[in-house]
Amino acid sequence: MPTTVVVGLQWGDEAKGKIVDYLAEHASMVVRYNGGNNAGHTVVVGDQTYKFHTMPAGILHPNVTAVIADGVVIDPAVLCGELSSLSARGIDTGKLKISSTAHVIMPWHKLLDSLEERHRGSQKIGTTGRGIGPCYQDKYGRWGLRICDLIDPERCALRTREILEYKNSLIKSVFGGEPLDASEICDEYGTYAEAIAPHVADTSHLVSKAQGAGESIVFEGAHGSLLDIDHGTYPYVTSSHPISGGATVGTGIGPRCIDEVVGVAKVYTTRVGEGVFMTELHGEQGEAIRQKGAEFGTTTGRPRRCGWFDAVAVNFTSRINSCSRLALIKLDVLTGQKSLKIATAYEIDGKITRQFPQDTTVLNRATPVYEEMPGWSESVVEARQLEHLPANARAYIDRISELVEVPVWAVSVGERRDQTILMD
Ligand code: IMP
Repeated sequence: MPTTVVVGLQWGDEAKGKIVDYLAEHASMVVRYNGGNNAGHTVVVGDQTYKFHTMPAGILHPNVTAVIADGVVIDPAVLCGELSSLSARGIDTGKLKISSTAHVIMPWHKLLDSLEERHRGSQKIGTTGRGIGPCYQDKYGRWGLRICDLIDPERCALRTREILEYKNSLIKSVFGGEPLDASEICDEYGTYAEAIAPHVADTSHLVSKAQGAGESIVFEGAHGSLLDIDHGTYPYVTSSHPISGGATVGTGIGPRCIDEVVGVAKVYTTRVGEGVFMTELHGEQGEAIRQKGAEFGTTTGRPRRCGWFDAVAVNFTSRINSCSRLALIKLDVLTGQKSLKIATAYEIDGKITRQFPQDTTVLNRATPVYEEMPGWSESVVEARQLEHLPANARAYIDRISELVEVPVWAVSVGERRDQTILMD
């Protein structure tokens, strides 16, 4: 797989970090192309657990150049924290490259995130509160401050004062909030700039050069496709493009540079934050999956909502990503369920459809049409080949693949690197 995009096919938290980590073993570059520290990727290596928010998961591999590309929004405080904690654990962070055109999450973004959520009241999005939406708003509104501005102290001070004049009036007059102090911000961000500056590069050029030389590159999508700003369950989405197309826009390479798209999905569904969730389980069964699957946010610690696998949604997200392979995650969590349900269609206003509605208000009226399959009681955590799995587990995987219309390439049966079944 020379150039591979790894994307989430649900609402995020599909354990993409594990798949990226696996592919990174044979790659020379891992590129993060969207989102910010609203993401959380967990990678378990032996008895060590690493949690990443802005850092590409590929940083753990000494052979890998880890790239934070143009489409990412960076909270320098968080990134500097990740850099120092990885260094303290003996991981070489020297091969991290950061795009000079990536936008910076500033204190006003974080403040406005919480003020906007408060203002929305019962209509709140349930954001991670990391300033992601306001930072992307400013990027598209041309009020952004980029990494190239941050590492130039004079330019950073000038831009901060200019932007803050406008932002403070918004904070005070619209939201009744406390204004922010430009000098304090410049002092604090000056120290981050020093730590970040040695890593700053023209990452689009670096990635193109590596691709031209035939090197193996992994593009790491953050979040899930159902949170995509254009194609997700709007307005309960994030503000970037987690889909595979986001890899080209967010990196500065063309679509012909992508060879493979691996879609990652859990064998059930989870969601954090507000918004429609067609197959959500509200009672004991949802709670059991949450506890067994440790379904609590890596970034915010919030309990994730849990439900059955939704083949209508994942068929849709596989299509918009043009997925070539499927990685199915957390099969072990379903062990012990007497029977399993898969949504194969929706009933909307009395009509049965397999087409995922674009309008979220229509989706709100969708009732899943379920197919029930028998579960399995045998442990799967030691399985390393499909044949090691119970027949009912194999049938469940085959049915998902058939409904999603993408061949399965990997099945994860535990959180460790080696707890993976690969098809080739
Ligand atoms: P924001 O990205 O913080 O603006 O939050 C918007 C929505 O996306 C909220 O419902 C979040 O819970 C959700 N979200 C953002 N990032 C992730 C993620 O990495 N996993 C799961 N949900 C996420």
